[in-house]
Amino acid sequence: MWTFKLPTEVRFGPGTSGELPGLTARFGGRPVLITDRGLAGLPFFLRIADLLEPVAVFAEVEPNPTVTNVDELCRLLRREKADVAVAVGGGSAMDCAKAAACLARSSESSVRAFHTGGLPLPLEHLPVVAVPTTAGTGAEVTPFSVLDDREKGVKGPLAGPALYPTLAVIDPRLTHSMPRYVTVCTGLDALCHAIEGYWSKHHQPICDLLAVEAARLVFRDLETACRVPEDAPAREGMAYAALLAGAAFQLPKNGMVHACSFPLSNRYHLAHGAACAFTLEFAIRHNTPALDGRMERFAAACGFDSVAAMIGRITALKQLGGLPCTLDEAGVPAEDVPAVIAESFHPLMQNNPAPVAPADLARMYNELAGDS
Ligand SMILES: NC(=O)c1ccc[n+]([C@@H]2O[C@H](COP(=O)([O-])OP(=O)(O)OC[C@H]3O[C@@H](n4cnc5c(N)ncnc54)[C@H](O)[C@@H]3O)[C@@H](O)[C@H]2O)c1
Ligand SMILES: [Fe+2]
Repeated sequence: MWTFKLPTEVRFGPGTSGELPGLTARFGGRPVLITDRGLAGLPFFLRIADLLEPVAVFAEVEPNPTVTNVDELCRLLRREKADVAVAVGGGSAMDCAKAAACLARSSESSVRAFHTGGLPLPLEHLPVVAVPTTAGTGAEVTPFSVLDDREKGVKGPLAGPALYPTLAVIDPRLTHSMPRYVTVCTGLDALCHAIEGYWSKHHQPICDLLAVEAARLVFRDLETACRVPEDAPAREGMAYAALLAGAAFQLPKNGMVHACSFPLSNRYHLAHGAACAFTLEFAIRHNTPALDGRMERFAAACGFDSVAAMIGRITALKQLGGLPCTLDEAGVPAEDVPAVIAESFHPLMQNNPAPVAPADLARMYNELAGDS
């Protein structure tokens, strides 16, 4: 027994960002455009702002967006009587917009009420148009928003159907300007979503199909997208892979790789994709025996002779992007490891197919220290 749903309307293809004025007009005439400071000065963003003529631009989203970002954006949406929130950016801009669009229609003044305050997310929200500029998070089609509450020291996902964007406009051309490091971090985040959705205890047939195809495309196109940033077919393949991977994990949800990523990005400010990719090879080795041949079939569908060959390819991609592969490279002092392990037991760990004990993570961090 299983359920599949994906309520977000998807418009995909090179050049589709040029259609944004027409696509957003149905929600009303008062769009607010949301991005981060790095993107706000890029030519494609200026072109979109010119075309869309928003009533306001919010360019204050921080990487790993904070509850303060969301609260500020919500005040702006209310003040401007916005009728649609248009997020142009990576997971950070999209997550901030999704949460603020929910908050804006609620009676609360801070997203903390839902993030750490325990209230369920309301179902009402302002329409959200998600326009990804990275090829990774899949936030354009997921019901999640990952927020950082710096004062309380808590980073974690908000989840609820109101967080599905209303419309995703995926224009792979917007991803050509990603630097190599961001390309590989976000591309491997998509791979983690595909693998974690596939092995989740709650996996199901449609998500499995999407996951395998997403991973096949990452292995086919990520290296080219990284080496030749303007390669349109590779960028298109990666944008499509990220979308499929988002659709693949949004129902089954992630497992140990994402659970372990939270303390790594909280404490050492590793980019989300780098934090996930850091533990991916170990997690595959740990979970494969619990999957009754499914991981071997996954690797074969991606064109590998064995799971070990697929793991070797993941390490090579990390090295190509300059992602950390050891505790030293990640900036994790050996004496912090017990605390990092203790903070890794997020509820997502329950979705992992093989049980994970603190001793397993101690073994993993030993290997990552190069001590084994
Ligand atoms: N909602 C979800 O389902 C979901 C899933 C996975 C991750 N996330 C969250 O998403 C966030 C990470 O998102 P991300 O990995 O997309 O990175 P990001 O949005 O933080 O962007 C990373 C950097 O790349 C820059 N950048 C983005 N697009 C660019 C482009 N086209 N050209 C040049 N520079 C560009 C940005 O300005 C920023 O400096 C994290 O907070 C993570 O927890 C959310
Ligand atoms: Fe992720």
